[in-house]
Amino acid sequence: KILIIDFGSQVTQLIARRVREEGVYSEIVPFQSAAKAFAEMKPKGVILSGSPASVSDDNSPRAPQEIFDSGVPIFGICYGQQVMAEQNGGAVEGGHAAEFGRAEVKVLQDSPLFEGVWKKGEEYPVWMSHGDRITKLPDGFEICAVSEHAPFAVIANEQRRYYGTQFHPEVVHTPQGAALIRNFVRKISGCQGDWTMKAFREEEIERIRAKVGKGKVICGLSGGVDSSVAAILIHEAIGDQLTCVFVDHGLLRAGEAEQVVTLFRDHYNIPLVHVQAQDMFLDALAGVSDPEVKRKTIGRLFIEVFEQEAKKIGGAEFLAQGTLYPDVIESVSFTGGPSVTIKSHHNVGGLPERMNMQLVEPLRELFKDEVRKLGYELGLPEIFVGRHPFPGPGLAIRCPGEITREKLDILRKADAVYLDEIRKAGLYDKIWQAFAVLLPVRTVGVMGDGRTYDYACALRAVTSTDGMTADFYPYDMAFLGRVATRIINEVRGINRVTYDITSKPPGTIEWE
Ligand code: XMP
Repeated sequence: KILIIDFGSQVTQLIARRVREEGVYSEIVPFQSAAKAFAEMKPKGVILSGSPASVSDDNSPRAPQEIFDSGVPIFGICYGQQVMAEQNGGAVEGGHAAEFGRAEVKVLQDSPLFEGVWKKGEEYPVWMSHGDRITKLPDGFEICAVSEHAPFAVIANEQRRYYGTQFHPEVVHTPQGAALIRNFVRKISGCQGDWTMKAFREEEIERIRAKVGKGKVICGLSGGVDSSVAAILIHEAIGDQLTCVFVDHGLLRAGEAEQVVTLFRDHYNIPLVHVQAQDMFLDALAGVSDPEVKRKTIGRLFIEVFEQEAKKIGGAEFLAQGTLYPDVIESVSFTGGPSVTIKSHHNVGGLPERMNMQLVEPLRELFKDEVRKLGYELGLPEIFVGRHPFPGPGLAIRCPGEITREKLDILRKADAVYLDEIRKAGLYDKIWQAFAVLLPVRTVGVMGDGRTYDYACALRAVTSTDGMTADFYPYDMAFLGRVATRIINEVRGINRVTYDITSKPPGTIEWE
């Protein structure tokens, strides 16, 4: 077992994910409760995360002294490295030129951390993101690697098995980072690597049973992989104590509602309530163009509908959701944490306090691809598990500006044509997410002999492994040309098609 102490970095879950990929169980705890968790869990190794805080600020967080006294191996990442250095007699200074992005580190000496990965004397790319740096090494530490701006890029106290990196080994932009984490977890901490999705499924089922007891649970189904996997897992844990509620908010893609109802009612035999709430949502969204207002409006109505359904079903104390880790991290500040609000995800944000149901979120620690693995583990069909993610607020956030029923119809048609072409070209599984966006601009065109003045539409397609970062998909131009021609010919209301070539960051995947 590995304990990960979280100081509030945006990417702490990636550390946990890397550890899971090594088949090792890990838990993330916020620094405030780290001492207690450490005593209870008795981990074989501890990882200290990065942080938006600065070690040189008053009141910035520290690791509990117990872990340094315990003799377990420790791996400090970025802020975690600085905390480790400072708490063991070194010094850290702020105010240096901040360093972000790619850097090259040069390996000065061999270390068990580098075994089989990095060689002495060679240079390797890493991803840096920091403002502070160490200025004095604590006794017993040595420098194992340097970069141009980070004289303490990797430090180690081999005797105590303490390691620290100024860069982030957990992100994919540090290509051998996962291998360094593997060395820490498997070789240095001596963890076995026998933890699997099967184990996750069993542990999570036990956790759900323990939490829910004989209580009733309502699960919000969206039609996507996440809520479906959550529902099936919960159904496996507690059977018909679960009722699924599928709210049709009028912001779904073509044919989606029918598919969900068939799969759950007929195929899985899970109790399902299909709520027709299209008018309620679309009326509330009329005239709204601010993305955050849209998201919050949808979130609020969703909760209201749930409350009503919960009352009808009667006696449900729990609300289940397929919230994933990227939803959590991008919304933390909304729920009071330290990182910055990018978007208020409607399955986490907007939960009014008056709602007196407890949340059951069995996927809260997982990334999308891990949820897919869990879906296969649960026997979900490939075509369902392989589906692209679809956001809770649906087409509302793919229709910048004001939403109308007419625009939604146009968008549904364009989206269906686009996805049809992607499937025909055999590209669906190569793409993380693909969809059309209806732009709130009309442009002039010419069709036949006539002038047109219609909407422009943007196509989006990205590759990603976790939704946190993404690249646009490099279609060939002939494919794009085909899609554009079909959309303009078949979808009335669109006379221009563009392709979005923004990656994330700096863009986000959805347009709002
Ligand atoms: P962004 O646009 O933030 O999207 O780069 C990252 C991933 O999250 C999905 N997404 C959402 N999923 N509720 C959800 O369940 C939401 O409110 C929401 N907003 C974005 C998005 O489709 C992408 O997969």
